[in-house]
Amino acid sequence: MPTTERSALMYYRSMGEFPTSRHVTFQTSDGRETFEEFIGEEGFSGTASHLYHLGIPANLVDSRVWDLGDLSTQTNTPLRPRHFRLPDLFPAGSHQGKDLVRHRRLVLGNDDVRISYVVADSPSPLFSNGIGDEVVYIESGEADVESVFGTLRVRQGDNVVIPRVTIHRWVPVDVEKNGPLKAYCVEATGHVEIPEKYLTRFGQFLEGAPLTERNMRGPVGPLLAPAELADQDTEVYVKHGSGADVHGAVVVYDHHPFDVVGWDGYLYPYAFNYRDFSPVTGKILQPPPTYQILQGHNFVICNFVPRMLEYGEGAITVPYYHSNVDADEVMFYYAGETAARKGTGIGNASVSLHPAAYTHGPTRQAYLNSVGAAESKEMAFMVDTMNTLRVGEGALACDDPNYPWTWAGRRTPKSDG
Ligand SMILES: [Fe+2]
Repeated sequence: MPTTERSALMYYRSMGEFPTSRHVTFQTSDGRETFEEFIGEEGFSGTASHLYHLGIPANLVDSRVWDLGDLSTQTNTPLRPRHFRLPDLFPAGSHQGKDLVRHRRLVLGNDDVRISYVVADSPSPLFSNGIGDEVVYIESGEADVESVFGTLRVRQGDNVVIPRVTIHRWVPVDVEKNGPLKAYCVEATGHVEIPEKYLTRFGQFLEGAPLTERNMRGPVGPLLAPAELADQDTEVYVKHGSGADVHGAVVVYDHHPFDVVGWDGYLYPYAFNYRDFSPVTGKILQPPPTYQILQGHNFVICNFVPRMLEYGEGAITVPYYHSNVDADEVMFYYAGETAARKGTGIGNASVSLHPAAYTHGPTRQAYLNSVGAAESKEMAFMVDTMNTLRVGEGALACDDPNYPWTWAGRRTPKSDG
């Protein structure tokens, strides 16, 4: 299990104006003074970027409490697999006036990771997650992620990685044409990274890796606030703390934080789309780690994408029964059809929780009928956690009570008669 705190993406980028040496005074080409900020992981010993501000990035003038809403969680007891119908959390029209930062509904969580869902049509306030990196999966819609690093355009099917403490905001693009922004948000405690197995010792993608640098999109910038906002007091919503101590604040700076004229480094938001993931398929079924894309402390993330299926004689093409001895498995089925769970009520934007200590897999019929299938249209985003997940208020509000008994062809538990 990964325990490293290594950074986001080991790939150098730069934009705008900055000096040829670090830690020296620097004026822009039109004579404005700049102030250097170091954003770095693991103290001063990890992945970092250097940003050059027109204002003083520490000029705090106020702070108040931000009520994060109900982040409580419950034990999944009595133990059973679960199915959560996320669309029930945002009935038609209820997304109006909501944003991607403040209106998330907590589905599952533990001390390592929290998973939430949101449907939004409005720009979010400026936001900085001080707890860890975020991986936001875009189920549908389009948005600009505006940050101190620049603007990153994201769309359906993107995995968007936002490093801890990055001040940013989510601005939906053309909601009328693209629909509201639907997002599945994975908030890490600490950092997420590309799995080491895909990288050379210097961080370049290896031959055979399912993604390459060419698939990674970074921000375009610099992004400066409009002149009328540049010197205004500006609020930033902040998350901080860990475990039961997670808390929110609205801090106020005496200027707009989008005042970065240039930056360089290895730490910045980036996105890649599931359509660019090149799955490895074979004579017999390849195990789920084949589909891994990211990892954090005590969890991994996979993208299951459309693919040609196994071609060996008698090869089963749906996941055989498996006990994830060390992991709780959470699937977000964002599109397509999942053959293994056909007929169980799983639909678009469903989430299944298959906890450790419980064997799962396809239904009997799906297992037997899978032989000879040529192609899978399955599209799913998976989080596997090494520690037990607890159930949040969002999950409880859209729980499907019939799901646990679907393997046995029942709608209710036997004790109900
Ligand atoms: Fe599984």
